[in-house]
Amino acid sequence: MPSNSAAEHFHFLKGLIARPKNVGAIAPSSPALSQAIARQVDPTVEGPVLELGPGTGVVTEALIDRGIAPERITAIEYDPDFAKMVRARFPRVNVVQGDAFDLKTTLGNGNGKTFAAIVSGLPLLNHPVERRRALIEGALAKLKPGAPYVQFSYGFEPPISAPAGASVKRAALVLMNLPPARVWVYRKTA
Ligand SMILES: C[S@@+](CC[C@H](N)C(=O)[O-])C[C@H]1O[C@@H](n2cnc3c(N)ncnc32)[C@H](O)[C@@H]1O
Repeated sequence: MPSNSAAEHFHFLKGLIARPKNVGAIAPSSPALSQAIARQVDPTVEGPVLELGPGTGVVTEALIDRGIAPERITAIEYDPDFAKMVRARFPRVNVVQGDAFDLKTTLGNGNGKTFAAIVSGLPLLNHPVERRRALIEGALAKLKPGAPYVQFSYGFEPPISAPAGASVKRAALVLMNLPPARVWVYRKTA
């Protein structure tokens, strides 16, 4: 079972002090939250998996533990220190340092790919609703029909209502996290 090390907490705190709006949490997701997020991804569905905002890599680890081969994962992290850390922890994961809100530029040649799942740790509630909506709609467009866009948040409501042609449901409420978090899953219905 994964556990968050003191080094991870230290790196996270450093990131939080430098960029509070971007990091948007007081600690990495707990093992319970990381596992609840990873559970939304079916490892038997083939294809690449995209992670947005891996931070210190706790959810990346949970995805790998769930049975998703590291080579299947592309992780986009804005913070160069976190990106370096995730690269060192998981050398077979494709870590891209860049802006997840600009997937076209950040994914470059990989922009045309269709993903089996997208998992986001981005602190969406720190962004205006229209920016959240653009990100989630853009992500849904990169998913196979029925495939999940997984987002955790500390809010009672989903970060945005379901976009046209998609559904949203609360997949988990995780009390063993500081603060307690909800895991939301968006799927294209059409
Ligand atoms: C709330 S932390 C979550 C980290 C990790 N997924 C977890 O659950 O512990 C948010 C992460 O998103 C990253 N982030 C914020 N804005 C970003 C952006 N525009 N593009 C890529 N990563 C971003 C932050 O640097 C941080 O690592």
